[in-house]
Amino acid sequence: MQQVNLGIIGGGTVGSGVYEALQHNGSLLASRIGAKVVVHRIAVRDPKKKRAAQIPRSLLTTDWREVVFDPQVQLVAELIGGTTTAREVILAALKSGKPVVTANKALLSAHGEELFAAARKYGANLHYEASVCGGIPIIKSLREGFVGNRINALYGIVNGTCNFILSRMKLQGVDFAAAVAEAQRMGYAETPPDLDVDGHDAAHKIGILASLAHGFWINPKKIYTEGIRHVTPLDMKLAGQLGYTIKLLGIIKKPAHGSCVQVTVYPALVPNGHVMASVNDAYNAVLVRGDVVGDTLFYGQGAGKDATASAVLSDVADAALDLKFANKHRVPPFVPHECDSSVAPIAGVFSEYFVRLDVLDKPGVLARITSVFARNNIGISHVLQPRGREGEIIPLVLMLHRAPNGAVTRALKQIADQPLLKGKPVMFRVENFQ
Ligand SMILES: NC(=O)c1ccc[n+]([C@@H]2O[C@H](COP(=O)([O-])OP(=O)(O)OC[C@H]3O[C@@H](n4cnc5c(N)ncnc54)[C@H](OP(=O)(O)O)[C@@H]3O)[C@@H](O)[C@H]2O)c1
Repeated sequence: MQQVNLGIIGGGTVGSGVYEALQHNGSLLASRIGAKVVVHRIAVRDPKKKRAAQIPRSLLTTDWREVVFDPQVQLVAELIGGTTTAREVILAALKSGKPVVTANKALLSAHGEELFAAARKYGANLHYEASVCGGIPIIKSLREGFVGNRINALYGIVNGTCNFILSRMKLQGVDFAAAVAEAQRMGYAETPPDLDVDGHDAAHKIGILASLAHGFWINPKKIYTEGIRHVTPLDMKLAGQLGYTIKLLGIIKKPAHGSCVQVTVYPALVPNGHVMASVNDAYNAVLVRGDVVGDTLFYGQGAGKDATASAVLSDVADAALDLKFANKHRVPPFVPHECDSSVAPIAGVFSEYFVRLDVLDKPGVLARITSVFARNNIGISHVLQPRGREGEIIPLVLMLHRAPNGAVTRALKQIADQPLLKGKPVMFRVENFQ
């Protein structure tokens, strides 16, 4: 049986997981693809460090170049993370004509265009299944399973840390800080947790999915990104009373007319009856709506040693098959198309809204607020006002009909300028998946 020598850069959580999974399932993989994948060398920073997998010291080096430029290594897995050395590693491997597997969403988000251009130039594929949603095979499904579909919409709960935090806030009624502390204790959140809770990690992943779905590499600066720091137990409770749950959603939507695509990340109210509302803890879920297939749903572990290793192995298998058949019959992992498209600015994106205004409970307040929305041509579909005593500050909740983000932002600014408001207006978008 043909042997494929794999060089791994990084022996941390994911690198150790890949090594271990190959020890357990290497023969099964070989019998399925007709090629035996052998780990030839692994680069780490500190060879003395204790690792999750029992990696023989003889395989370790501290110099990634010894792995990438080893003539015996045919395939390279970049599993160190970051955007500097990792970029160098991938470019060096591709230049040497070696296919690369990466789990690095931050790098692909920042330099994807350059890296895929290098892959095309040097005729070596760059595989990235593990970069989005860990164990869920969403990249392969979009690229291959839905190759005959236009992707009209994609909704993703793609950051397990945020989903864990929001689940705890909803189910246990704890506040954001307590939920973050618990996520850190459980190993779901980094210290500091900014990359996750400010929505950047989700934006990296949604950008990759949008690029794949719409064929032009999305500039991460164009992705409107809001994190979950401002979600409060009160908003969770009020949303619950209206039949909704708050989730951090990545959304990719192509309207029927026009060439702009909505690519956004923000916390949104989702109806409790919708399956996305019941995705809890650190789980991920992605709903893909294709014009031929209709709605499909993917659910699973979005991160962690084993789930991510599973995705890396699927790419390793693809790359090994490429090597076995001399790269002749397979579609590259990213094919640019629809290059006349662009990302819609947030002001022009339409949505429905939940707005909470802390106001003095006195006659005329509601009328003044509704008149501002009317002036901006925004309809109100529902009002929730907890019973209060006159002169007390109460949370007034308004559900708004579909309107452009720009109009709602303008109306909220006009309301915020009025003395009747105590505190900043709170606004979440509502996603009904229609
Ligand atoms: N962890 C997850 O659940 C997960 C899920 C999906 C995607 N990813 C992605 O997978 C990648 C790896 O994540 P991870 O969690 O495995 O990270 P990690 O646990 O921090 O491991 C990083 C590894 O890279 C090694 N390393 C760092 N710089 C190096 C250098 N210059 N030369 C050689 N080795 C170097 C480290 O060596 P030492 O061990 O000696 O320090 C370590 O083994 C990242 O891009 C991440 O975004 C991770």
